[in-house]
Amino acid sequence: MIEHKNIVLGVCGGIAAFKAIELVRLLTKAGADVHVVMTQAAREFVTPLTFQTLSSHPVHTELFNLIAEQEIGHISLADRADLFIVAPATANIIGKIASGIADDMLTTTIMATKAPVLFAPAMNVNMFTNPIYQENEQKLRRLGYLFEAPVSGGLACGWEGMGKLAAPEAIFEAALSALTDKDLAGRNILITAGPTREEIDPVRYISNHSSGKMGYALARAAQQRGARVLLISGPTALAKPVGVHRISVTSAADMLREVIGNAADYDVVIKAAAVADYRPQLRNSTKLKKKGDTTTIELVRNPDILAGLGKMEQPPFLVGFAAETDALVKNSLEKLCEKNLDIIVANDVSGTDAGFNVDTNRAHLFFKDGSSSEYGLMTKDRLAGIILDHIAARLSKD
Ligand code: CTP
Repeated sequence: MIEHKNIVLGVCGGIAAFKAIELVRLLTKAGADVHVVMTQAAREFVTPLTFQTLSSHPVHTELFNLIAEQEIGHISLADRADLFIVAPATANIIGKIASGIADDMLTTTIMATKAPVLFAPAMNVNMFTNPIYQENEQKLRRLGYLFEAPVSGGLACGWEGMGKLAAPEAIFEAALSALTDKDLAGRNILITAGPTREEIDPVRYISNHSSGKMGYALARAAQQRGARVLLISGPTALAKPVGVHRISVTSAADMLREVIGNAADYDVVIKAAAVADYRPQLRNSTKLKKKGDTTTIELVRNPDILAGLGKMEQPPFLVGFAAETDALVKNSLEKLCEKNLDIIVANDVSGTDAGFNVDTNRAHLFFKDGSSSEYGLMTKDRLAGIILDHIAARLSKD
């Protein structure tokens, strides 16, 4: 999505200019080619050398710099951009663009670009709430300019309130979203992720090694592609993806209740969760004391949530996962058929580089029509994109 994209980052003058350093780091780490343009005021806060070092490109500061104009002038920078980000964006730059003023390198380049422009404003709370500023922002929003709203907090000027630059991670997510085709717009996708925990007593439970990373990668990517996403998640350490509604659950019974309660409102259900197949027959209300050298816990079957969805009168488009250590093809095809799925994503979880608790996965996708596609080792983010490509392609045929 962001790899090899040309991103022009405009940095304006303000104490938040130092946070743009972290943004450059996030963008370059994701493989983007970042070109920084600094206003004169920005150079009072951070030196161009800092951005030059991090972006590995010369920093643009002057409108009529002879060498820079010859190599990559302001118009060519504007043409090359896949995305323009202005962070921090002051009231001044937003006012200028809203009024069509182009009097320095940054304003000229923004006015000349056809790329999407994302402003991340940062300013004093009274400037932010000033009706002149608000009118300028509304005008730009109406014209299709994007905004990553500031957050509330202690401001450098001593005031408390709205006006603090959004976190670099939030601006990065907004940039990703701006660069992503909205091919899942209008789709409602329910995704389950993570393990379930089946309690034995107040201090012990049965669970598995699922980290939730695959389901979260799917939720994040589906949201970026325009879908309305509900993530029903077992216990994980992962942060909620921006723009995704999350319901946290613990046991398979909790997950069943939430999935069944919501499924009718969703066109697609992706069951990436590693649901425990069994739960203790009895949950002891007090901590079990040890007795003897061996012990037995009686387990009973949990309902199969996915199979239940497959039996609905009009099931949603169903995607299941099969975690296998052997007979991957046979077991996966059986699950595809028995659970009435549209796609099953089979993972060989016997290795250390794929499946549970790692950032990479290796998958074999089997489809209802009998076809299949096999993929080598890749990141879970990349695999999430591929799974969604298959879903989008099949939904668009309906
Ligand atoms: N699944 C589910 N409810 C369960 C068990 C599994 O919805 N009680 C879903 C999982 O979310 C996954 C798919 O079914 O999408 C396959 O899960 P997996 O654990 O690989 O297989 P099982 O069907 O549980 O079969 P087995 O454990 O025997 O391999």
